[in-house]
Amino acid sequence: MLDRMLRVAAFVIIAASVMGAQRSVAEDNAKIAAGETVYNTYCATCHGDNLVSSGQTFDLRKLPADARPRFENSVLKGKGQMPPWQGVLSSDEIDQLWHYIRDNAHEK
Ligand code: HEC
Repeated sequence: MLDRMLRVAAFVIIAASVMGAQRSVAEDNAKIAAGETVYNTYCATCHGDNLVSSGQTFDLRKLPADARPRFENSVLKGKGQMPPWQGVLSSDEIDQLWHYIRDNAHEK
């Protein structure tokens, strides 16, 4: 009896953690899709279709996984010929952009 209850409890715990993992994958996919829309609206004219730079601007796919602070700083404050995006993009949109860029990065 106790044995059976333990097995049921273990099953419930495993099922819940699998569902939690699936939910976070779905959330990430939603962010990636939203980030693509934000990118196409604000960034693609300079940084290239599908993140492929023509060579005139920085290729965003080169940003490594640990470069998020640098990314946010450049995006919010602007850099060189790039205008600042502070006040234009929400922090959610910047988060979505980051997910989209990382999903297409050269080094995952
Ligand atoms: C008007 C053209 C233009 C637009 C639009 C633009 N950028 Fe840029 N971006 C540039 C240029 C030019 C650079 C290179 C700046 C330099 O290093 O002098 C750059 C550089 C960057 C960098 C790298 C900065 C670094 O740390 O070296 C990031 C990140 C970036 N852009 C993100 C974005 C994002 C995200 C968007 C859309 C919200 C965007 N850019 C829209 C022109 C643009």
